[in-house]
Amino acid sequence: MDIGENGAEFVVVANRLPVDLERLPDGTERWKHSPGGLVSALEPFLRSHSGAWVGWPGVADTEVPPFEDDGLLLHPVELSAKEVEDYYEGFSNGTLWPLYHDVVAQPAFHRHWWNAYVKVNQRFADATAKVAAQGATVWVQDYQLQLVPAMLREQRPDLKIGFFLHIPFPPVELFMQLPWRTEIIRGLLGADLVGFHRPGGAQNFLWLARRLVGLEPSRGTVGVRTRPGVVQVGDRTVRVGAFPISIDSAGLDAVARRKETQARAKQIRADLGNPKRILLGVDRLDYTKGIDVRIRALYELIADGRVDPEDVAMVQLATPSRERVDHYVTMRKDIEQSVGRINGEFGRVGKPVVHYLHQSVNREELVAFMSAADVMVVTPVRDGMNLVCKEYVACRYDLGGALVLSEFAGAAAELTSAFLVNPHDLDGVKNALQAALDIDPAEGRRRMRALRRQVLTHDVDRWARSFLEALGTQTSV
Ligand code: ADP
Ligand code: F6P
Repeated sequence: MDIGENGAEFVVVANRLPVDLERLPDGTERWKHSPGGLVSALEPFLRSHSGAWVGWPGVADTEVPPFEDDGLLLHPVELSAKEVEDYYEGFSNGTLWPLYHDVVAQPAFHRHWWNAYVKVNQRFADATAKVAAQGATVWVQDYQLQLVPAMLREQRPDLKIGFFLHIPFPPVELFMQLPWRTEIIRGLLGADLVGFHRPGGAQNFLWLARRLVGLEPSRGTVGVRTRPGVVQVGDRTVRVGAFPISIDSAGLDAVARRKETQARAKQIRADLGNPKRILLGVDRLDYTKGIDVRIRALYELIADGRVDPEDVAMVQLATPSRERVDHYVTMRKDIEQSVGRINGEFGRVGKPVVHYLHQSVNREELVAFMSAADVMVVTPVRDGMNLVCKEYVACRYDLGGALVLSEFAGAAAELTSAFLVNPHDLDGVKNALQAALDIDPAEGRRRMRALRRQVLTHDVDRWARSFLEALGTQTSV
């Protein structure tokens, strides 16, 4: 893969660039790491190969010329403030996000949001058509850009186009609510390979291709990384498969083993008052993540007298996210209220039960927190994959710690040695938290060893290679 003279041989297209432009109060600007799992996963892969990345720089009404960042060619796509409101906050995060996450919040269907989605998808397709070399591979990412594959194919039939959805693909009954359901399926069918985290998503998509577009997809069961479904679209064959995403496992393992990381983990424990047990949550502040569930479970365990607040400290790191979208505004208030409640009732001066940081921390600090935590709590009500739980496992080279994981995260299918919970069953979550807090060390090591076997052998490089090989692209540099 190379940046050819006449365009890039390999192009990633995503709503965001891997770096976000930040305007500081004093008027200066700087680039910072973009939030979310897509960038965490793709960035290490892309940086170890070469290529181009087409995406939005994260601020409205700002024209940024293409630039090189550590060997990666970044092509910014400009969005107006109104487009951010209608395409990004509106259709992407007010319609598609809740619809695809099992309608855990009510999706809104507005025609002007849809119109902005179409217009912005066209802009991404046009920008990509200009950047890609003849016969290049283009890898389109996620729910914000589902129309790009077909729009791009229309202009550039020479390209090899892959699409990967980083969030769940919903049950067909829910997808059918979408007024623009056929347009989305046709948009995705512009790709040569459409990838989902789980076989269920691929099967749902194949069913919809039959129902909404009248195609004749294959009927066999789709496997994980094997046996993709196929559907003939005119003279093209579109493949549809399951490719569970992962993390840079070896990279995190190496950071965790550093002396400085372990010293920082010790310092974090001391700063928390050296409690017997530390619980940790790390998420974007999103209503799908079940942050409220874990705080409620801990509250009840303490209220029931099953956990002594003197013995535990919970740290919740929550990256600010989509702060102007209504559901996020309400959820933030609710979570901050429940943190206030648990600390108000069970904390004492200098010793709150929950340490809540509405902040993002850097990678080294994140690994130190994960190294310090006895119990990692990952309780989404729905999550495409969830990388945080895999990151925790990668950090625990010492075989310490225990993972409480929602059955409704894609990762649960792989991390079967975690304490799996149904986040809607509060008693079940309480029991799992208590079991994880009280785990016998030998049993903990047994579970963590099994988890690590999975995470270290199924890393992001394997994910990207399996997808690109299925697309028929050479992945060697
Ligand atoms: P999503 O893509 O929905 O945000 P994932 O769990 O797949 O969820 O990925 C989240 C990524 O963001 C992970 O790499 C995680 O480590 C990172 N992250 C989440 N919250 C924070 C935080 N407060 N500080 C630093 N990194 C964070
Ligand atoms: O896959 C989840 C995802 O929505 C990515 O597409 C996105 O980059 C990330 O989470 C962060 O969300 P946002 O870009 O809306 O801040």
